[in-house]
Amino acid sequence: MRFDLITALPGLVASPLAHSILQRAQTKGLVEVQVHDLRDYATDKHRQVDDYPFGGGAGMVLKAEPIFACYERLVDEARARGEAGPDAFVYLTPDGTTLTQDIASGFSLRRHVVLLAGHYKGVDQRVRDALITHELSIGDYVLSGGELPALVLIDAVVRLLPGVLGDAESALSDSFMDGLLDAPAYTRPADFRGMPVPEVLLSGNHTKIAEWRDDERLQKTRLRRPDLLDPSQRPSHP
Ligand code: ADE
Repeated sequence: MRFDLITALPGLVASPLAHSILQRAQTKGLVEVQVHDLRDYATDKHRQVDDYPFGGGAGMVLKAEPIFACYERLVDEARARGEAGPDAFVYLTPDGTTLTQDIASGFSLRRHVVLLAGHYKGVDQRVRDALITHELSIGDYVLSGGELPALVLIDAVVRLLPGVLGDAESALSDSFMDGLLDAPAYTRPADFRGMPVPEVLLSGNHTKIAEWRDDERLQKTRLRRPDLLDPSQRPSHP
């Protein structure tokens, strides 16, 4: 799988891509992530990628030309590699659809995803109308730009690609993978400052351990996120 991330702040995304699971997945050749500096596609000598909004108002708007130029270059390069071209162009924006585990799973089946990290007051609407195929938010709060949301999407998708996680880290038991939150986890020592690990986890009885974890997951989900449960599993309030 391949991601191309278009941003006016490439330095902001370098470190997360160069560590841990994201870095390992790239080294193993399971995913390729290329970051593109929008300023390289600016047409004026000041390399300006934003401008004042028509009609007035606060904030600057990302210009259409550099984004079109960058995207068209990515399409041409993909074709030159013998590929069909990007199969999604995602704009990260607080007014997009809220990212969920299901949406991340859907993206993990794609071959080539281009991401646009917005900044300032947003992006010229013509980019959204003509190029963007998906608009995604990572939650109901406003960040300074789309770079962190783009990394969140990449991370959520890459950990689902076959071969990225070892058995020990398997994504199958993550919170949300089957609609429930994850069970509590413990490691050594078995007793820390008078706080013991639940007995069952030391029992070696895998059936009992699995039952305990299922139970904990259901209880935690009922308590914290009843909206994730079937109506029949939700706690009934008097
Ligand atoms: N850009 C700014 N805030 C954002 C958010 N919550 N999700 C996606 N992109 C954003």
